[in-house]
Amino acid sequence: MIAPSLLSADFARLAEDMDKVAADVDWLHVDVMDNHFVPNLTLGPPVVKSIKAATNVPLDCHLMIEDPDRWAVGYAELGAYNVTFHAEAAADPVAIAKDLRAAGSKAGLAIDRDTPVEDYLDILPAFDTVLIMTIKAGFGGQAFIPGLLDKVRAVRRHIDSGHLDIRLEVDGGIAMDTIEAAAEAGADAFVAGTAVYGAADPAAACRKLRALAEG
Ligand code: DX5
Ligand code: ZN
Repeated sequence: MIAPSLLSADFARLAEDMDKVAADVDWLHVDVMDNHFVPNLTLGPPVVKSIKAATNVPLDCHLMIEDPDRWAVGYAELGAYNVTFHAEAAADPVAIAKDLRAAGSKAGLAIDRDTPVEDYLDILPAFDTVLIMTIKAGFGGQAFIPGLLDKVRAVRRHIDSGHLDIRLEVDGGIAMDTIEAAAEAGADAFVAGTAVYGAADPAAACRKLRALAEG
């Protein structure tokens, strides 16, 4: 799965930037930041609603917000395909996952740079997606941290040994020179912001990323 991050698109020309890549991607990654969980502010429900109406590509909403117990389900109700919230911010992650599925979306659990995955392996069956940050969440354009692939390997082993039906997504610094390592570590969904929208031809960049990930 290739999921361009709209964080690196032009927010005044979102429809145009989404159309550029629509034929070459699986999901559009929508980064919701609240200026509390991370020191950056992006967009919220009204913009997600408009994005949903403007594209047929499934939306992969990545909530970098406090209190997902209260707010996450609203994104499912807006028609997001997948809603991923941060483990660090959630009081009851399994309850949120249930709410998301009941509202008709997939449920995703995100693990930030400094959080070990071991604490969460037991609850993974409640989820459809696990997102391993390969940077510290908050900003696009940061350098990929190769050491964080150990977490991808650990989750991959857990998924495979438990025969779990879970997408293993990586987010942060995914580009032409890093996506192969992430795929080899076991990721099967790849978010890329700068590598797509910083490219002269975003659609071609998506095709190239996919080819590299497929090896
Ligand atoms: C950052 C966001 C990412 C960001 C990735 O916290 O979660 O999705 O857009 O951007 P790049 O690909 O530039 O690292
Ligand atoms: Zn993201």
